[in-house]
Amino acid sequence: MTVYDIIDAKKRGLALSPEQIEYFVRAVADGTASDAQIAAFCMAVLLRGMTDEECFRLTAAMAESGEVRPRPRITGICADKHSTGGVSDSTTLVLVPVLASVGVKCAKYSGRGLGHTGGTLDKLESFPGFRVDLSPEEFEAQVESVGAAIAGQTESTVPADKRMYAVRDVTATVDSIPLIASSVMSKKLASFADAILLDVKYGDGAFVRSPEEAEKLARLMVSVGRSAGRKVCAAVTCMDSPLGDSVGCNAEVREAIEVLKGKKNALARLSLFHCRKLCALALGISEEEAQRRTEEAVASGAALRKLAEIVAAQGGDARAVYDETLLPLAEEVREIRAERGGYLHVSALGLGKANVLLGGGRRRAGDAVDHAVGILLQRRAGEKVREGDLLARVHCRSGAEEGVAAAKAAFTVSDAFEPRPLIYEFIDWEE
Ligand code: URA
Repeated sequence: MTVYDIIDAKKRGLALSPEQIEYFVRAVADGTASDAQIAAFCMAVLLRGMTDEECFRLTAAMAESGEVRPRPRITGICADKHSTGGVSDSTTLVLVPVLASVGVKCAKYSGRGLGHTGGTLDKLESFPGFRVDLSPEEFEAQVESVGAAIAGQTESTVPADKRMYAVRDVTATVDSIPLIASSVMSKKLASFADAILLDVKYGDGAFVRSPEEAEKLARLMVSVGRSAGRKVCAAVTCMDSPLGDSVGCNAEVREAIEVLKGKKNALARLSLFHCRKLCALALGISEEEAQRRTEEAVASGAALRKLAEIVAAQGGDARAVYDETLLPLAEEVREIRAERGGYLHVSALGLGKANVLLGGGRRRAGDAVDHAVGILLQRRAGEKVREGDLLARVHCRSGAEEGVAAAKAAFTVSDAFEPRPLIYEFIDWEE
């Protein structure tokens, strides 16, 4: 068997055997396969597709390509939530403290910003001193003692995905359903969460544009997870416009804190929907009871206090949870105003890209992120606006003309607006 023959078979549209898939993944992980061969394989999969069985095998082989630790002795069910990537999506910063404060342990492995999408690890580093590089032992001990930990997976977990993802990112092969499913689920299977909620985004700012395609991806990931014996459910949710009202690290952390203090918006609605689903499953209670407990955790301030506890446990300055001046915004402010009257459209993709240009995201892997830049929305997509109305404030560094222009271009006004549902579909645990 050779890597060349495996690429050739997929190029001709053949289904790969488990042995071929395992051989290829081993070659990726041990460096025998070159980047050119990985690129050719990914493009062949993107164009020819994979059967569900091939995808299960690819995911399992990737999950086992690095260090796999046995489930630690943590009492109760451990929950995790994973989003396929969006703009102004800070649900993790709301969900983890809410769940931990009602007794649902959260073992949350997160990522950095990718392309125009934001990353939880970058946002957490808004808290001065916050450590996202916990060792597996520190991570597991914190889940048991505090009830939650949020960190990045170590270099030795799922090395096959790290190489494949880096190649896909520069070869236009990210948007393949079996490759996304195996990438996401291999990382989930290599972690120890028992109950996983997948938030699969569709729309302008997502890797998958149509809700039908996103549902296909969601169903595939749910069956990959179930075939590996995990409890997995998925929500297919809209990413046409930013989920929250802020884009940028410090701005999004400020907003998540506002939601934990009771602010109501789409970010709050989706975060509490996910909390309800995971809480009901983990504690074996009805969804009504789960909703009551999670809403009470916000109303009583318990969830906010839990966020401060998590931040402190990971070396961060927990005073920032109560003092937003410790999460500063860049001082130069540009206003975006409506150029005509009508219905407002806000492009999630456009604002995500604008944030990267402002310095709030990465143009290249390894770039530093400016936590203080960002965009604060004053009006939401679908609202009726009049000429001259204030739509957003851009917090930027001087000379950030390209980013400011990109932010402006993300706002358009027209005579009609057809909203698509925030929650398009939910694929339940038992289905
Ligand atoms: N997130 C991942 O981890 N992998 C993908 O392929 C896409 C989004």
